[in-house]
Amino acid sequence: MMTRTRLLAGNWKMHKTRAEAYAFVSEFTRLRSASPSDPTYPELLVCVPFTALTGLREPLEAGGMKLGAQNMHEAERGAFTGEVSAEMLTELGCDYVILGHSERRQYFAESDAAVAIKTLVAFANGMRPLVCVGETLEERERGETAQKISTQVGAVLTALASRPTDAQALVIAYEPIWAIGTGRTASREDAQEVAAAIRAQVREQFGDEAADAVRILYGGSVKPDNIGALLAEADIDGALVGGASLDAESFFKMAENSAL
Ligand code: 13P
Repeated sequence: MMTRTRLLAGNWKMHKTRAEAYAFVSEFTRLRSASPSDPTYPELLVCVPFTALTGLREPLEAGGMKLGAQNMHEAERGAFTGEVSAEMLTELGCDYVILGHSERRQYFAESDAAVAIKTLVAFANGMRPLVCVGETLEERERGETAQKISTQVGAVLTALASRPTDAQALVIAYEPIWAIGTGRTASREDAQEVAAAIRAQVREQFGDEAADAVRILYGGSVKPDNIGALLAEADIDGALVGGASLDAESFFKMAENSAL
């Protein structure tokens, strides 16, 4: 049985200027180097605004973190005012890109089809996509959670049908929309149930190897004091954190609390 490397990812959303991003990195690095323990930290990632990407990779690496973006356009280049391509992100050292965050789906009308194409384009450019899925409160109350998640995940898996290696490298974040920024976390049992269903869907389409390798994160009001319990669940391999990732000390505490 293979072990998956845990991933702790911060999604800064539209927060932090470049100066603030650098201050975060130096504070995190200081905390980490001052820490007396030497646990096996999860893979650490911060997904920053486009404007903070330039020059951030090196200091991040020095602090043991990776660099990610929060969105990209699917076209290689072209007349898409205001958009950013995959190549522009890899040039700045992005290892990961968040795709299909619920805020993108809700405010920028991103469809399952667009997220699926972006996933292919991210892989083709050597980035790992971190694909977000999740149901609204109304959908949960109507008992439609499983259906909603399976449709969103299915669109991406279908696009990857002829690319099993990419499917293995996929990261899927389950973020129930009602838990984002609300202080209301899904119970660990509910989060585990959805994560297990996602893994089963990967298994059905790609087999054991991909299902055992794919990493599934939980997101939605994750904080230093609840991350440990969530990560104790069998199918939850990490967390995608918004608000609590903005403060270096809180991000550091989450790294410590999810270390093995
Ligand atoms: P919060 O951690 O602020 O609830 O945000 C979650 C999220 O949307 C991460 O992508």
